[in-house]
Amino acid sequence: LQSKALSEIKATTDLKVLNQVRITWLGKKGPLTEVLRGMKNLTPEERPVIGAVANDVRDSLTLAITEQQTQLETAALEAQLQAEKLDVTLPGKAIKQGQAHVLQQIITDLEDQFMGMGYQVLEGPEVETDQYNFEMMNLPKDHPARDMQDTFYITPEILMRTQTSPMQARAMVDHDFTKGPLKMISPGRVYRRDTDDATHSHQFHQVEGLVIDKQITMGDLKGTLLAVAHKLFGADHDIRLRPSYFPFTEPSVEVDVSWGAVTADTKPEDIEWIEVLGAGMVHPNVLEMAGIDSTVYGGFAFGLGPDRFAMLKYGVEDIRNFYLNDVRFLEQFKQRG
Ligand code: PHE
Repeated sequence: LQSKALSEIKATTDLKVLNQVRITWLGKKGPLTEVLRGMKNLTPEERPVIGAVANDVRDSLTLAITEQQTQLETAALEAQLQAEKLDVTLPGKAIKQGQAHVLQQIITDLEDQFMGMGYQVLEGPEVETDQYNFEMMNLPKDHPARDMQDTFYITPEILMRTQTSPMQARAMVDHDFTKGPLKMISPGRVYRRDTDDATHSHQFHQVEGLVIDKQITMGDLKGTLLAVAHKLFGADHDIRLRPSYFPFTEPSVEVDVSWGAVTADTKPEDIEWIEVLGAGMVHPNVLEMAGIDSTVYGGFAFGLGPDRFAMLKYGVEDIRNFYLNDVRFLEQFKQRG
């Protein structure tokens, strides 16, 4: 019995089978238990002899099973380690790296530049009140210039901002002029009820700029905008101001940037100009409505469109490309370094 059991134990290659063998030989219904149960039928002389033998057999089987179990477990662990072996010297899988959206790249560039010139960057609500979007920008309810910006109204008093200009009013109201001049830019999304086509999108971007101090001139405005043009298009580009109209600036200008480089030898008639932004000197009404004394303070404001900048800079012909999120389009504007 003992040797048969031992050889069965040694032959097992699997922990489950080993457990089965254990139950067969040592379990409640096994032969050993039976022997021990039969003890009561033995004579008092036989009992200790048979008992000792039975115990010996049980001990040796238990020991054999434990040894076999340890061996099988070690083998299993060994096999698992082998299977899960990891070569730490193999090169890693390449991680696909994303990048900032091309419009965000332009906005970030502008933020960097203006922060370098001492401007703060402010962000404002896209859901705006009629009061800030229009009234405070010198556009009362019946003003014909409201037609210039088709508006998504949410209620008669609440709308999707059509421009970042309301941030001019918010900044002026909040600013403490005892602490110095106000210099800020405000980038963000704006909304207009336009039908989307190659050059129109119902949602696009603007970066508003505003400087208010005691002696600000149009020369300051031109110098600032020239710096922006140089940053975005290159130091050899020039700008030109043309008279225009905005309700919140007086005088108002539209600003063109030269398409090609301009040197001292370039003939004026050879320069190709493209319009890039609107600007002007802040209208006294706008200052007064924000609680600023227009006889003491003045300033300039500008609003530029990153979408239009990106289209010009990269030759993108359809503004909708910026909003379709097709990675094949977006990946072309990968920044290096
Ligand atoms: N808010 C104007 C627009 O959307 C742009 C602008 C801003 C013009 C600031 C002048 C000064 O058309």
